[in-house]
Amino acid sequence: MEDPAKIAAAREAVKYVMHNTIVGVGTGTTSLIFLRELARRLVSGELGSVKLVPTSTETEVEIVNLGLGDYLRYPWQVSHIDIAIDGADEVDGSKNLIKGGGGALTREKIIDYWAREFIVIVDETKLVSRVPSNHPIPIEVIPYAWSIVKARIEREFGGRASLRVSGGKRGPVITDNGNYILDFTPGAALNPREAEVAIKAIPGVVEVGLFSGERVSMVIVGKRDGSVSIIK
Ligand code: 5RP
Repeated sequence: MEDPAKIAAAREAVKYVMHNTIVGVGTGTTSLIFLRELARRLVSGELGSVKLVPTSTETEVEIVNLGLGDYLRYPWQVSHIDIAIDGADEVDGSKNLIKGGGGALTREKIIDYWAREFIVIVDETKLVSRVPSNHPIPIEVIPYAWSIVKARIEREFGGRASLRVSGGKRGPVITDNGNYILDFTPGAALNPREAEVAIKAIPGVVEVGLFSGERVSMVIVGKRDGSVSIIK
């Protein structure tokens, strides 16, 4: 059964999608619930004329499976994103995020940071006092550089960075962009905003799954009783 907290957050987020807008659609279970709710409104005619820009192959496939292929657009087909709705693995009180549990961090950051409004939808279990807490920081790296980036991150920040391996195939996970992912657990607490900039600056790093709270318009937190709270 689907998590009622995720459903509550996703349903609330749909209310922010306006007629005739360009919507960045996130990746992961919560984002797919959002997409399904959006599909319901489109099919019923409550909403029309939207364009949907997916942040991953998973989301792109789901847009097609839901019969919404006519609404599908790629970044080069749109001039801007009005609103992006996306999930997260962890959120702190300043709206800093860990994303990339589903390996889609690079396309997610491209679309989420491009959007005029970036809304995060999470269930209450994702709230933490500081990021990272319970999840490693995903770092997408070009395959040629993975061992160099791993060594440099461990030397500069302490802790451990491991190559993510796939469940459905032996060997490393290959992202939608043809890259590898390092999952990095720092040796000590770090400043998420400074770490986002510092990790991104390492040659071979494509993107880091730390998202600055300054880029997040609001976080919709769904609760098990079906209610939501908003962090602005
Ligand atoms: C994918 C992501 C997802 O947004 C994140 O993993 C949350 O997923 P879920 O909604 O399934 O908990 O960053 O790369």
